[in-house]
Amino acid sequence: MMLMRRHGQCIHRDNVGIVSFADGYHGRTLAAALATGSPSADDWIAREKVGHYQFPFPFGPRWPWGNVDEDPTGEKAFDACVEGLQRQGITPDKIAGFIGESVPGWATWPIPRGFARKLVDWSRDHNILVCFDEVQCGCGRTGKMWGMEHTGVVPDLFTLGKGLSSSLPVSAVVGRAEILDEPDAGDMSSTHGGNPVSAAAALACLEVLAEENLLERATTTGSLVVSQPKKTLDAGRGACCYNGQHSEPGVVPGIGNLGG
Ligand SMILES: Cc1ncc(COP(=O)(O)O)c(C=O)c1O
Repeated sequence: MMLMRRHGQCIHRDNVGIVSFADGYHGRTLAAALATGSPSADDWIAREKVGHYQFPFPFGPRWPWGNVDEDPTGEKAFDACVEGLQRQGITPDKIAGFIGESVPGWATWPIPRGFARKLVDWSRDHNILVCFDEVQCGCGRTGKMWGMEHTGVVPDLFTLGKGLSSSLPVSAVVGRAEILDEPDAGDMSSTHGGNPVSAAAALACLEVLAEENLLERATTTGSLVVSQPKKTLDAGRGACCYNGQHSEPGVVPGIGNLGG
């Protein structure tokens, strides 16, 4: 978020707004909590005072209008999100960046392709950076290396953690050089940043992902993950929520090893 705000300020010093999804999750530091969308976080954050805005999630339960069948690509959802910003008096020249999970962990379904396409086009037209949070859905978990591959678009930045090492703490921000090189050396440092042991664990983990064909395996084991709840639902036990619509038993959302 710091990179996006700094990039925005290169255009105009007031251009620091960040948009994220309501219901998204990005962590517990203030900047990450600002992007998160849970009611408990809303209590103390005063998001509007720091130029942080949220789009309704393009999945239920906050799908902007109710019926997914009317907008399977999510394009109307995106238009509704932008109209929502306009109604609050927020113009794109106040927005530096957008952050969202490409495959939200709780939805276990990618951002709809039409929504993603419009988001990226709108952002490019207004010099807004798009950052996908791949902390949970990246590194092979969805059957592809990056969750964003299911959306059909490429962001300006993306963040990694969790499965990047699957062991020692390590995280990363990936993006174009002109964005990553904007801060001066040391501006983005932290005490344990660049720890060589964690970096070695991340490199080893990436090798194992490739050598053991784990992307393919995520798809195979993922189908087992969703088939068992489906059997339970077929047997008439439990309820199922798909894209926020309470669907008939038998539909279980999931992609690779993310299943809900
Ligand atoms: C999508 C997403 N982003 C960010 C985070 C925060 O990661 P950490 O707990 O390592 O700060 C999480 C953690 O669950 C996550 O799921």
